[in-house]
Amino acid sequence: MNNLELNIENVLPFVSKKTLDEYEELTRYHIKHLHQRTGKGANFLGWLDLPSSITSESIEEIEKVAAEFNKKIEVMVVVGIGGSYLGAKAVIDALSHSFGMYSGDRTFPMVIFAGQNISEDYTGEVIDFLDKKSYAITVISKSGTTTEPAIAFRILRNHLQEKYGNEEAGKRIVSITSANRGALRKLTDEKGYRSFVIPDDVGGRYSLLTPVGLLPIAQAGFDIRQLVAGARKMEEMTQPGTPFWDNPAAVYASARNALYLQNPKNEIFASYHPKLVYLAEWWKQLYGESEGKEKKGIFPASVNFTADLHSMGQYIQEGQRNLFETVISIQNPVREVFIPLEKEDGDGLNYLSGKRIEDVNKMAELGTMLAHVDGGVPNILIKLPELNEYYLGQLMYFFQKACAISGYLMKVNPFDQPGVEAYKNNMFALLKKPGFEEETELIYKRLSE
Ligand code: PA5
Repeated sequence: MNNLELNIENVLPFVSKKTLDEYEELTRYHIKHLHQRTGKGANFLGWLDLPSSITSESIEEIEKVAAEFNKKIEVMVVVGIGGSYLGAKAVIDALSHSFGMYSGDRTFPMVIFAGQNISEDYTGEVIDFLDKKSYAITVISKSGTTTEPAIAFRILRNHLQEKYGNEEAGKRIVSITSANRGALRKLTDEKGYRSFVIPDDVGGRYSLLTPVGLLPIAQAGFDIRQLVAGARKMEEMTQPGTPFWDNPAAVYASARNALYLQNPKNEIFASYHPKLVYLAEWWKQLYGESEGKEKKGIFPASVNFTADLHSMGQYIQEGQRNLFETVISIQNPVREVFIPLEKEDGDGLNYLSGKRIEDVNKMAELGTMLAHVDGGVPNILIKLPELNEYYLGQLMYFFQKACAISGYLMKVNPFDQPGVEAYKNNMFALLKKPGFEEETELIYKRLSE
């Protein structure tokens, strides 16, 4: 197996093959409009051919800026929220040692994230941590005006200036923002920060293969060329001419839409690897923000097995039957850890001695899948040969492409997010932001009633 494999065998007890066959024509229609840029949100399709169109020079430039910091700093703080951090965080977590240990002469900085919340404790602790480290900041915001990263950037920029002085601090800041809009662009130009541009036609949650994802991943020492190469392979595999059953993005989009129309309104992303928790977070944003509108959409949830089999497992097995599972199965782990033989067998585990931990994990995976299908939970299985840059590139591009097709099948615009403004308007009114005077009056009146 050299590529991502999609298996929908365990959807077929719930949705007939005939029903899925009917999606062949529908998806052909939507894929055509996607590629001809004639569907909804066509101004935000810059991500579609990014894997094949990104130039070697632009990758080199990203690698060069990342390399400049390698030996100079211990920590790179990436400031951003939503699509401006989740893709990088997903890849870095998936590929990093769980306890920050690296083999060989690895000299890459530790990449941490800030500005993805407004927690005072978190921010205070970031500062505690940075007090004792040599560090630099990569600030990412397409709009350049998002409140959470703007607050974190102001605080950290001040900390950096106090620590290194204005001139050196300026050299330790890289910004990634729009070419000509927003406060961050203005600040970048005024202060002369090094910067990369987020293309106007790429939305946050589709921006993994722009500097938004690529720079932090390169800063953490991972191979962005392989990530792009994997995505390029998936771009090839999901072209308009690809027959329906050979196009995993079309089949995944169809299977989940067919299930949604029957009953399940919740999709659970499940994996058996704790390193994939943030991949699930990235996936949740992608599908939740793309499809959850006009009172439609599959609610994206996630679990990490086997830990969550001891908590959420009960609900999935026997709770309301309105869900289906999408399982990411990694075929070959990087490490080999064997279960030892013990003479006494006090814990009764000798029947497993000599086996790898992964042998047990795989049987847990198979056993769970059979149990959940028996319990009425349809199962979509996505197999990846290994957890590396190349296959993550395939997987993440696959999810993006499938999400676009799926959104079109649901007849929504998968590239906008009008609903996220509601909380911001209330927050700005409550904080008495200039320009929100009328809203401020109304909201305080409402609260006092
Ligand atoms: O997908 C999206 O568009 C959002 O999640 C944005 O990425 C997020 O709101 C951050 O926006 P910005 O990059 O403008 O700060």
